[in-house]
Amino acid sequence: MHELTSPQDMHAWSRAERSRGRRIGFVPTMGFLHEGHLQLVDRARQRADRVVLSSFVNPLQFGPREDFASYPRDLARDRSLAAQRGVDCLFTPEVQAMYPTEPLVRIAPGPMAEPLEGATRPGHFAGVLTVVAKLFHIVEPDIAVFGRKDFQQAMLVSRMAADLDFGLEIDIAPTVRELDGLALSSRNSYLNADQRRAALALSRALRAVEQTWRAGEADPAALQRRGMEVLKAPEVSAEYLALVDEELRPVARADARTVVLVAARVGPTRLIDNVVLGEGVASDVPVRGS
Ligand code: PAF
Repeated sequence: MHELTSPQDMHAWSRAERSRGRRIGFVPTMGFLHEGHLQLVDRARQRADRVVLSSFVNPLQFGPREDFASYPRDLARDRSLAAQRGVDCLFTPEVQAMYPTEPLVRIAPGPMAEPLEGATRPGHFAGVLTVVAKLFHIVEPDIAVFGRKDFQQAMLVSRMAADLDFGLEIDIAPTVRELDGLALSSRNSYLNADQRRAALALSRALRAVEQTWRAGEADPAALQRRGMEVLKAPEVSAEYLALVDEELRPVARADARTVVLVAARVGPTRLIDNVVLGEGVASDVPVRGS
């Protein structure tokens, strides 16, 4: 596995591979890899000849009171997991290399970034789209793979790629869950044993909404109330539970394409999760081997 830290070297590596006719698959991450990331690598591998994984904790997407400084990092472990899973090139730039000067120009994410995560985390999606645009220019992938757990992010990246003619395919992979339903996230490492149990409230709330919808309820307000009841659990403080369409607009009636998004704090840790009603939580991918 190649390991590169300079954007110029990364660009040159990709250019050389492409000039040999190889398709580049790209998995952007903030490191502290888990099975969810590694399944994105597997998907990229199926669709490309070379897989690049970036590991970069992007300061631009964290608010001043968020966890940029304490975000979990373990490059040695990431290196070994990426190599074992067949990543061809690991890109690990320093902040200084990505932002040699204060970035004055940022991507304006537009109305899809306003509700939900965008309302709770002002500036977050401008930061995400700006770094993703930079990474796309550096790596020049043919296909980039994102996880559906960050649904709003995945939709925004897809729209940015289409609206700004990036000329690459965005592939959205299903959420990977522990067998008990908890969606994999690097932030799960913040949870103690009690909080880990309490965190199941998120996937349980999604399941409750899905079951109520399957039983015939299509009124979003009633479905939202049902989800919020399940979220009321010790240590869990709900931020939102919303039923939206693919452009993040509230729906008038829930149908199979409706997405239910939830965010809650479990102790101090903020977690998010979602389900597409017609697909269901059970259709997500369980952790390999569990
Ligand atoms: O989902 C993430 O890990 C990050 O938001 C991303 C897409 C790597 C951009 O920093």
